[in-house]
Amino acid sequence: MRINIAIDGPSASGKSTIAKRLAEILEYTHIDTGSMYRATAYKALESKISLEDEPALIEMLQNTEFDFTHEGQLIMDGKLIGNEVRNPACDRGSSLVSRLQSVRAMLVSIQQKITLKKGFILDGRDIGTVVLPNAELKIFQVAFLLERAKRRYEEFQLKGSPLTFDEVYEDLRARDIADSTRIYSPLKKADDAIELDTSFLSVDETVNRILKLYQKTVERLNQHD
Ligand code: DC
Repeated sequence: MRINIAIDGPSASGKSTIAKRLAEILEYTHIDTGSMYRATAYKALESKISLEDEPALIEMLQNTEFDFTHEGQLIMDGKLIGNEVRNPACDRGSSLVSRLQSVRAMLVSIQQKITLKKGFILDGRDIGTVVLPNAELKIFQVAFLLERAKRRYEEFQLKGSPLTFDEVYEDLRARDIADSTRIYSPLKKADDAIELDTSFLSVDETVNRILKLYQKTVERLNQHD
């Protein structure tokens, strides 16, 4: 039996790393929905479109093609999207464009179309609440801001970023507030999501906990068949 899995949580809580690992183990397709908001900000920045100009962003998106590889990696306008959207400008830019209702509606509709079939793991902020309200398994992955800032700082250092720890911490704090207080689809735990605090869990420990929840879910669904 194949199901769909929703993983939501704040920035740098490790959702994508965990979702990617789970997808490899379960042979599911992982879609990192944050990459779509990042790619939107990236294209707008490249095209000199203001990240707050909703009509211009919508026109841009109407002329943008999103696709996914078999493994779920994002392709925008025929180009594989990778590290070019993982930088502080796209961090902030994606948070800005994700506040706009019409931008969200366009990206959510693409996400919902591809998950009409089962066997997907989507990570983001609104997966359990808006994109996949009927997902069979919903995880709300959290971690203390300090732990998340440490992880993000290490990631940036490996890439040679000049940002200080305090700057990374402050940036995450500001994005936490923006993502959870915006009007449309704010970051929120779905009522039927299971909260998992990964502050002091390794990647393997987190993956194993979710795999156990996955097995329980599948057993429960099989019993009801
Ligand atoms: O998960 P991430 O850091 O790559 O996400 C980038 C931004 O996009 C983040 O500020 C929140 C936003 N986002 C969203 O609003 N809804 C999603 N489903 C995924 C990301």
